[in-house]
Amino acid sequence: MPVKAVIFDLDGVLTDTAHYHFQAWQALANGLGIAFTEHDNEQLKGVDRLGSLRWILQHANQQVSAEEENRLMQQKNQRYLELIAHMSPADLFAGVQPLFAALRQSGIKIGLASASKNAALVVVRLGIADQFDYIADANKVVNSKPDPEVFLLAAKGLGVAPGHCIGVEDAVAGVEAINRAGMQAIGIGEPSVLKNALKVYPSVQALKFADLVKL
Ligand code: BG6
Ligand code: MG
Repeated sequence: MPVKAVIFDLDGVLTDTAHYHFQAWQALANGLGIAFTEHDNEQLKGVDRLGSLRWILQHANQQVSAEEENRLMQQKNQRYLELIAHMSPADLFAGVQPLFAALRQSGIKIGLASASKNAALVVVRLGIADQFDYIADANKVVNSKPDPEVFLLAAKGLGVAPGHCIGVEDAVAGVEAINRAGMQAIGIGEPSVLKNALKVYPSVQALKFADLVKL
């Protein structure tokens, strides 16, 4: 099947916001007297805001009202927005620009599929907003990764059948979403963590255009 589109996750794939999400969740959890480690965070990569909060509370056997959930999500997002306030094009991971340029040159479409409601803001800060043929984010879907909805919406927006798309993800939930969407999954991170990806690269810089068209 020829590749007609590559759909990228944002946080942790194109830039290091995954670490800011971790720091913001950790600050919130610690404030509630809950320990929250990098290992815990690995389970939350790709998971939306409410799903993440509920995971943290459940693991500490805490339950709160819907009103309190909203307050806590707002608090976490406030901290996250502070952490990303200084972001600039310098925060785009090395290797993204040449990869995008090669895709564009060969007529392969570029999409974004993010579980974040802040995705549009982050791509503007990174200076790459106009490089996407379609952006699908958490504001446009009902079901969060590992549900395939955000990847399927991106494919639809690009006008490409899922079977002709490659998805690129750093999260376990994201790789599952790509597979369930009927696309080929490329992992960015550890092969021992992203077990269900077709191939795993340590960074987006290590992923070359030639590797993608070979799939
Ligand atoms: C995902 C991140 O992209 O977006 C998660 O991997 C994050 O860590 C989720 O919780 C939701 O982000 P936001 O910006 O909508 O709170
Ligand atoms: Mg991610």
